[in-house]
Amino acid sequence: MAFPTETVYGLGADATNPEAVTAIFKAKGRPPDNPLIVHVADPADLETLVAAVTPLARDLMDRFWPGPLTVILRKTARVPDLVTAGLDTVALRMPAHPLALRLIALSGVPVAAPSANRSGRPSPTRGAHVVADLMGRVDAIIDGGPCAVGLESTVVDATGDAPVILRPGAVTREMLAGVSGRVELDPALARRTHADTTSAAPRSPGMKYTHYSPRARLVLAGTPGGQSTDDPATAARALMTLASRYPDEVVGVLCTDETAALIPAPAAGHPHLVVKTLGSVLRPAEMAANLFHRLREFDTSPVTLILAQPLPEEALGLALMNRLIKAAGYRWEDA
Ligand code: TXA
Ligand code: MG
Repeated sequence: MAFPTETVYGLGADATNPEAVTAIFKAKGRPPDNPLIVHVADPADLETLVAAVTPLARDLMDRFWPGPLTVILRKTARVPDLVTAGLDTVALRMPAHPLALRLIALSGVPVAAPSANRSGRPSPTRGAHVVADLMGRVDAIIDGGPCAVGLESTVVDATGDAPVILRPGAVTREMLAGVSGRVELDPALARRTHADTTSAAPRSPGMKYTHYSPRARLVLAGTPGGQSTDDPATAARALMTLASRYPDEVVGVLCTDETAALIPAPAAGHPHLVVKTLGSVLRPAEMAANLFHRLREFDTSPVTLILAQPLPEEALGLALMNRLIKAAGYRWEDA
């Protein structure tokens, strides 16, 4: 069944039951080599699931659980290979959402739950998103309203001495550094373009797939290595210049409040420009909570091309840009 968490909606089933886990992969259309996160309602539940809780994992859990942090540890035989796609590690998370915690506790088992979207689609941050993707494919959907965080959890390899971020999220690099000092980033996170094959294969298998895609093609307005500007005037000018190159398309713009305020409506020469804002650049949490909803909103508009403003990659900006770059399929265009 699908249920809300503070990050995104999950599609949950008994993690110890291979049949139930198979049904998750089937409902999502998810590739079987992409492992699932196992959700618990109490840190003590890890006892039968992991070989050992490392001192690093203990520190991270003490500080960030319940919350948007997933830790990777060596698994025990109780976790079926199906859940971990054959890896000898398992991803674990205790969500900070009363409905999720109650559901997991009542089920009496660890709950395997990927995001409750069809594979490749933006993660669901509202009940309606789950209905759109999975109605008729799942037994039940619990609608808990909009998700507070709106981006999936930070995934951290906690098997060693220093955390390695495999997927950035709302528990930021800066916050992790506050606990452990040294923090590493999976080199695959440096990938910016389609041609960029210098980055290693991602250690989080799910990070290699096309993701978060709206139906229109999404393009980042800028240069991949370039310093993304938070100067709204520069960003607005770049977005308008790019839009003017596509007079035959209905063009969408995804940008900050500050940038949107500088795009005249209806923009001169672009009667069909559809501008949507993520929120103020001063409130990254608001932008994060809006991102997937905005991408899905474009699906119900006639837009065929979405131009997105690149954002500064500090703190939560790292996670936001990670999702935008993947939603864009690593496409960039410079004005
Ligand atoms: O916020 C979240 O994490 C949400 C909610 C529902 O909790 N769940 C979620 O699950 O985003 P999913 O399946 O969409 O993403 C799980 C990510 C994938 O990138 C997967 O490859 C990675 O975690 N992962 C799972 N197990 C792993 C493992 N043993 N080693 C490395 N990466 C792993
Ligand atoms: Mg997902």
